[in-house]
Amino acid sequence: MISLLINNQTYQIDADPEMPLLWAIRDLVELTGTKFGCGIAVCGACSVLIDGKRSYSCTYPVGDAMGKKITTIEGLTDKAGLAIQQAWIELQVPQCGYCQSGQIISATVLLKTKSDPTDADIDMAMQGNLCRCGTYQRIRAAIHRAAELIK
Ligand code: FES
Ligand code: FES
Repeated sequence: MISLLINNQTYQIDADPEMPLLWAIRDLVELTGTKFGCGIAVCGACSVLIDGKRSYSCTYPVGDAMGKKITTIEGLTDKAGLAIQQAWIELQVPQCGYCQSGQIISATVLLKTKSDPTDADIDMAMQGNLCRCGTYQRIRAAIHRAAELIK
C-alpha cells in the first residue's frame, strides 16, 4: 500500500510505485480537476504542487510522492490560491478550460515567490503550461489582478 497526503487528507492506495501520480489522483482518489494532456511532461495540464513546488504528475512516480505534501486544484485554498481563482472568474480566463487547473497551480507558485510580477516574470513562470485556446493574454491580466487582490 502507498500512503499519500493530498490536500491535507491521507489516502491509502494499492498501486505500483512506478505508476504516474496523476493516475492515483484522478482514478484512485477521484480528484478529477487535474487533467491529462500530453503525458510526457510538456503541456502542464497535470500540474500539482508537491511540497510547494509545481510538478508534472503525469511523469511523477506515485511511490516517490510518499511522505510529501501534494496539493491539487481542489485543495488550493490558501490566500494566493483563492485570489487567483477569484481573478480567473472576474476576467473569465478559461475558454475550453482544459489547461486551466494547471495554469492556476503555476500562477499560485509565482505569486508566492513574487508578489508583484512583471509581464516578463509571468511569461517565464507560465512557460511550462500550454493553452491550445490561446488564453495567454487573459492569464497574464488575471495574474496581475490576483496580485492586486492579495495586497
Ligand atoms: S499531461 Fe503532464 S505535462 Fe502534459
Ligand atoms: S482554455 Fe482551452 S486549452 Fe487552455
